[in-house]
Amino acid sequence: SRPIIIDTDPGIDDAVALAIALFNKELDVRLITTIAGNVGIDSVTKNALQLLNFFGKKVPVAMGAAEPLVEKLVDASDVHGSSGLGGYEFEEPTKELLLEDGAVNAMYKEIMSSKEKITLVPIGPLTNIALLLKMYPEVKSNIQEIVLMGGSASRGNKGVMSEFNIATDPEAAFIVFNSDVDVVMVGLDVGWKTLIYPEDSKNIKNMNKIGDMIYHLFKTYRGGSFNTGLKMYDSCAIAYLLKPEMFEVVETYTQIELASGLTRGCTVVDLKGYLKRKPNSKVCLDINQDMFKEWFMNEISRF
Ligand code: BDR
Ligand code: CA
Repeated sequence: SRPIIIDTDPGIDDAVALAIALFNKELDVRLITTIAGNVGIDSVTKNALQLLNFFGKKVPVAMGAAEPLVEKLVDASDVHGSSGLGGYEFEEPTKELLLEDGAVNAMYKEIMSSKEKITLVPIGPLTNIALLLKMYPEVKSNIQEIVLMGGSASRGNKGVMSEFNIATDPEAAFIVFNSDVDVVMVGLDVGWKTLIYPEDSKNIKNMNKIGDMIYHLFKTYRGGSFNTGLKMYDSCAIAYLLKPEMFEVVETYTQIELASGLTRGCTVVDLKGYLKRKPNSKVCLDINQDMFKEWFMNEISRF
């Protein structure tokens, strides 16, 4: 199975993505690193540990950056609640899975000691990944690719032109997209199409214990609306790893706008090749919605 590291800020859609990745035998989740994003670093780290405890999965967790590289954190507690996963009451987890190493060093050790190349799967702001690539550029030769949830080839959800994970730390995103590592951008163009409706949520609730937990998180999730459709952004990155045939993908040049003002944090995807630059990214432009829904429900039914 494919070795991956998930860098995450749980977060309701993160929680679902983690469950799918951890229960799918085609993926080997070697390490989970946490990043401040949806809520602060202490909360997202606690949430990751709570989820693993609930799932009964023993994957090491390393705590990552508390702040974006340049700006202060502006979280998404309006979407995920003040604790990030407030819709369900989890047991207090032990700290047994929490490594002493921080995220950057833990990733470095895992990547360098792995016989097979590792795929990085960031589903939060890219701060940890940028720090890793700058501190230990030697990791690049043992990274298969970076499959990230973030960005948009159209419009944003944080700003007019910017998606939350990129807008939270544009400088980090700039470092990642300009790192010469293969980047797959699984952004809003597909995330907006992965809608879970009330009848799907009810089916999920009745599937198993984890489905029931997810249902309760969905009740409080403001990534869309429970009644008109909830967005499964982060699961899209996992879907790309497992079923890339569901996606329409273009290889193109993408740059991150760092200027302050209206477009800061925009992923400028040069679809028409105006900039005449060598492609540095694969960008997911579309997804087969029916296939995604079927895949998603099937993954959850197997927990
Ligand atoms: C991204 O922002 C976060 O709120 C979600 O967890 C997802 O990673 C979507 O823009
Ligand atoms: Ca996330």
